[in-house]
Amino acid sequence: MLPDSFIEELRFRSDIESVIGGYVRLKRRGKNLLGLCPFHNEKTPSFTVYPENQSFYCFGCGTGGDVITFIRKAENLDYIEAIKLLADRAGMKLPEDSVDDRAARMKTRILELNRESARYFHSQLSTPAGRRGLDYLRARGLSDSTIRRFGLGYAPEGWDNLRNFLSSKGYTKEEMLAAAVVVQGKNNSTYDMFRGRVMFPIIDLRGAVIGFGGRTMDERGPKYLNSPDTPVFKKSRNLFALNLAKATKRPQLILCEGYMDVISVHQGGFDNAVATLGTSLTSEQARIISQYTNEVVVAYDSDGAGQAAAKRAINIFDSTGVAVKVLSITGAKDPDEFLKKYGSERFEMLLSGSAGATDYNIARIRQKYDMESADGRVAFLKEFTSLLADIRNPIEREVYAAREAEATGINKQAILSEVDSKIKRRQKAREKKEDRDLRPYTPGPPGAARQDPDRMRWPKYAIAEEKLLGMLFKYPNCFAKTVEKLPPEKFVTEFNRRLYRAVCDKMARHGQVNLSMFAQELSDEEMNRLSWITSPQQVDTITQDGWKDYVDTILGFAQQHSTEDIRTMSNDEWAKMFKNK
Ligand code: UTP
Ligand code: MN
Repeated sequence: MLPDSFIEELRFRSDIESVIGGYVRLKRRGKNLLGLCPFHNEKTPSFTVYPENQSFYCFGCGTGGDVITFIRKAENLDYIEAIKLLADRAGMKLPEDSVDDRAARMKTRILELNRESARYFHSQLSTPAGRRGLDYLRARGLSDSTIRRFGLGYAPEGWDNLRNFLSSKGYTKEEMLAAAVVVQGKNNSTYDMFRGRVMFPIIDLRGAVIGFGGRTMDERGPKYLNSPDTPVFKKSRNLFALNLAKATKRPQLILCEGYMDVISVHQGGFDNAVATLGTSLTSEQARIISQYTNEVVVAYDSDGAGQAAAKRAINIFDSTGVAVKVLSITGAKDPDEFLKKYGSERFEMLLSGSAGATDYNIARIRQKYDMESADGRVAFLKEFTSLLADIRNPIEREVYAAREAEATGINKQAILSEVDSKIKRRQKAREKKEDRDLRPYTPGPPGAARQDPDRMRWPKYAIAEEKLLGMLFKYPNCFAKTVEKLPPEKFVTEFNRRLYRAVCDKMARHGQVNLSMFAQELSDEEMNRLSWITSPQQVDTITQDGWKDYVDTILGFAQQHSTEDIRTMSNDEWAKMFKNK
């Protein structure tokens, strides 16, 4: 356990506004800041940061907490790791021996094990057994320096090569299983996950080896085998080669489908290529990309599946503010093949001429309809004008309208006036929605609270308890008279009673309470609930005059329910009431 004084100091030095500002574009709204929630997909901001009590809460998905909670979720770290990251940022040193957290130690071991494995695979390339792997990589056109730069390697045939190597280095079976470099077999045995494959280490932004992809050389088994998610590897939040591409001087990132494309593109002189890891693009990956660039060129396979995936990628980037272009590769299946056939110069031309999202979308809808028939043209026009209505710049709209007018023989003015009326309609709808959004928030509690049976059964008391708890955070001076009148056992709902006990405990020890004091003892869901209870939006309406009401309401429970409910009560409830009396 870390000393409270350390956490206090850390919190003081990690201003929530500047920490979260590194992840989310925040706009000031009165005392608070508002932005697009990084934890769920949204187009209108409901993620709120409260500098006043150094907390955040999202009214869209109910995620909330303090600066430590935020870092844990945004970086996918455990508590100690989040503390370490913030301490680093604040230039503070962690007190000794607080670091020997089991999970954190395991992660460190896995990362070391992965590094050893990557070295092992790489060194195999220069052994007789690994010759096959080296020949394969060379036959695919990779130079020795590219092979070194990406740390490529070879996993030999056989069931226990890596396992024996790692054992000799002192790694345990548990560690190998946790890193997923070996697989659990029958009778407690294990065997190597990757056999007879060329190996692609996956390296994160800190330069740590977090997982592997392995390609078959003889079409046995799946073409690519990838590490599953492990404690150090989440496919959905990492990108292949971002560790290299983040340093590029080029103005954009190139998003490819796979390992070989990325490596070929880098070798061709474009150090800005990245790829997802055997899955389609996630919103987390899009968010990460948006931290490094304002423009992405999607370079997926030219086949139907690749183009469909490109279209999905465009949508995913929609809420990130990143401009998306789609590379239309002609005469080759994928960037790797294109570069081999036509060379870097042609690829550069492809890149500079890569169709913007609008061009791409227009081409797509044009393909969809039969432009020879009147029906087809009407349907095209409908979709085309909707598309133009999304474009902000009127000159750009005019350019596209003129071009399509020319190509289809539809009058340009007719197109533009249809676009205008669509824009007006949308504007009206938006204003209406904004009106709604600007009405004072009466947002409900997070999901966990809404489903709490205790809270559903006794909403009146639960609400009074929540207000009272919020009040204790806002006006700690009310604490003394509160405990005097209201011992914890008088609380009606179980969760709030537990919070109140914890608050009493912290008050006794520190004379004050803040969210961070609870980060270690509450689960994520519980932390969401507490952040909501104490969020300024909730406590703003609380005044010290309300105190007596809340206390009386809670105390009223015992009297109110003594007679009317006893008959309908379950034995448990009755026992609880009996104890309270
Ligand atoms: P592709 O099948 O397009 O392969 O898969 P590729 O990139 O052209 O590879 P080469 O040129 O044949 O070697 C693209 C990506 O999809 C994932 C991998 O990440 C791959 O890089 N994939 C593909 C798998 O995870 N498993 C598979 O079996 C196939
Ligand atoms: Mn390929």
